[in-house]
Amino acid sequence: MVDTAVSPRPRRVAVSPVTAAEVAATRQPTERAHLLPPRVFHDPAVLAYEQEAWFAGGWVSVGREEDALVPGQYFLTSVNGESLIVVRGTDGVLRAFYNVCRHRGATLVEEECGTGPRFQCPYHAWIYDLEGRLKTPRHT
Ligand code: FES
Repeated sequence: MVDTAVSPRPRRVAVSPVTAAEVAATRQPTERAHLLPPRVFHDPAVLAYEQEAWFAGGWVSVGREEDALVPGQYFLTSVNGESLIVVRGTDGVLRAFYNVCRHRGATLVEEECGTGPRFQCPYHAWIYDLEGRLKTPRHT
């Protein structure tokens, strides 16, 4: 389990693939305004820019606190294509971890939500506590 995944990272300056002129054309009075070009809705470069510029540099809402009220209660979510486990620790703190085992990279949890005292990797049985600490590596 890799440490917290939803804290802000230093913000990089991305260059938008949509030009200032294309955006300005949408902000004209209605009778002169244009729609954004169709590629804005299907171009992978635009999607990559939006993910980096809007979601990678700040806090991202990944769910509701009420969905993990008691220690051990968790739910899965994803941010920018990465699966995350959001879990309430035994200390009552809500945390998020990459849903991947640090041993060989197996997916730790498949169930969308649940409650348990720990997470055990289905591949070689490494165990992580609710605070993300590796507890008993059996195979190294
Ligand atoms: S991949 Fe998880 S214990 Fe080996």
